Amino acid sequence: MKEIKNICCIGAGYVGGPTMAIIALKNPGIKVNIVDINEKRIADWNDTDLDKLPIYEPGLKEVVAETRGRNLFFSTDVDQGIQDADMIFISVNTPTKTYGKGKGQAADLKYIELCARQIARVAKRDKIVVEKSTLPVRTAEALKDILSNSESGFNFEILSNPEFLAEGTAIDDLLDPDRVLIGGDDTPTGKEAKNTLSAVYEAWVPKDRVLQTNVWSSELSKLTANAFLAQRISSINAMSALCEETEADVDEIAKAIGMDSRIGPKFLKSSVGFGGSCFQKDVLNLVYIAKSYGLTEVAEYWNQVIELNDYQKRRFADNIIKKSYNTVNDKKIAFLGWAFKKDTNDTRESAAIYVADHLLDENAHIVVYDPKVPAEQVYTDLEYLKNHDPEEIRKRVSIVNDPYEATNEAHGIAVLTEWDEFKSYDWAKIYSSVLKPANVFDGRNILNKKALEEVGFNVYNIGK
Ligand code: NAD
Ligand code: UDX
Repeated sequence: MKEIKNICCIGAGYVGGPTMAIIALKNPGIKVNIVDINEKRIADWNDTDLDKLPIYEPGLKEVVAETRGRNLFFSTDVDQGIQDADMIFISVNTPTKTYGKGKGQAADLKYIELCARQIARVAKRDKIVVEKSTLPVRTAEALKDILSNSESGFNFEILSNPEFLAEGTAIDDLLDPDRVLIGGDDTPTGKEAKNTLSAVYEAWVPKDRVLQTNVWSSELSKLTANAFLAQRISSINAMSALCEETEADVDEIAKAIGMDSRIGPKFLKSSVGFGGSCFQKDVLNLVYIAKSYGLTEVAEYWNQVIELNDYQKRRFADNIIKKSYNTVNDKKIAFLGWAFKKDTNDTRESAAIYVADHLLDENAHIVVYDPKVPAEQVYTDLEYLKNHDPEEIRKRVSIVNDPYEATNEAHGIAVLTEWDEFKSYDWAKIYSSVLKPANVFDGRNILNKKALEEVGFNVYNIGK
């Protein structure tokens, strides 16, 4: 087994940043360099004010405070990072393709390929290259191809080590993972590389939770895990629509089925729809892969998870319109929350974006309050959809820093993110300032319905 003294991680994002910070924390003898081409991001990671880190995650700034400058470093010098490293993690973004073949479904692997080519070009000795990004099954083959065709003649051992952290709980997930998955070749050098990476994790993860597989199982396990998780949410959300017609209560159903140990209680929270950078992208990628192998039924099965999620977001927006006497034209709708879940500033694929877009089709005015999302991000998210002119978006959408200002004189209040603080607002004060009838659309089922109804609100939940 090789001794690792220097790790480089390409990509200082939501995965690269926290994951490497924990590896550095638990392996003080390893120097960890995180490199990225995004200068602003690296400058933010290096900011002396830890509240300016580019990513908000509970517990992250404490870990960065302890490790940064000790054995954790952030830099834009990618070549140097590669050259110094014994082991290189590739943790760059793998978004859904927006052009060409596979547009709208396949993963765009251009950033991965660029990294492989750069490693091939600048490496001056053997390296272990670790796929940390979520990748389609058999991507390691392409990486190997690029690296083994480099003229260097060095040996590049490719491992797959997908990341299972969830945003908002990244630090806890990393400190106490259900498992760490490491896929690699079953050749002597492949096995040695797997053991070398296992040793990095075994600095804090119990050995029996570090799972070694072949590289293809590892790549496909990641897509499978995300597909199963997304499918659970779409399944409970499908039931929520039926509950609304039948006076059944979706939370009671979730509890009842979750007590069946074969089903389990987690990930059964009905909502306005799942968001985040992973679920939609990875399920669509699975759909594309299945299709490309001619497995039409498999592709259609998983595609339904996405269709149901789109339906759930649309259904929520439609209900706001319906309960507003079928029109939100020039009405003010207050959005509590914009992030795709609580405890993160990440808004990628957030349900809020799609609900807002739908309401903009109906000429609503939207006022957003989110404790962590900057105003410009809201505009960027809406402009990205290209359904409305940027000027129209800026005219109709405003962002405020105070929830009471957001809800003042609103025709309706929509809860889009499950931030804890929403539960403890002075709802009587809010009631006195909104237009009547006072409608609250709780897309996360977090508010105390009974208490709000006593104050005078009409509360519309998901699946109740
Ligand atoms: P991100 O967009 O936050 O970060 C990716 C970073 O890579 C960016 O800062 C970008 O500038 C950098 N980058 C891109 N190309 C580069 C290059 N050639 N050289 C140097 N830097 C480059 O993405 P993320 O959320 O951290 O996700 C990274 C990967 O991890 C994706 O494949 C994603 O599917 C996967 N993943 C994400 C999560 C999550 O919760 N966000 C969880 C598990 C897995
Ligand atoms: C997910 C996976 O959980 C994680 O393992 C993977 O590495 C990356 O993708 P993430 O997207 O960060 O993590 O958050 P997650 O907690 O899974 O939530 C995703 C979305 O589903 C959020 O919008 C959340 O609000 C929603 N959700 C989650 C529900 O609507 N109901 C639930 O019961 C759980």
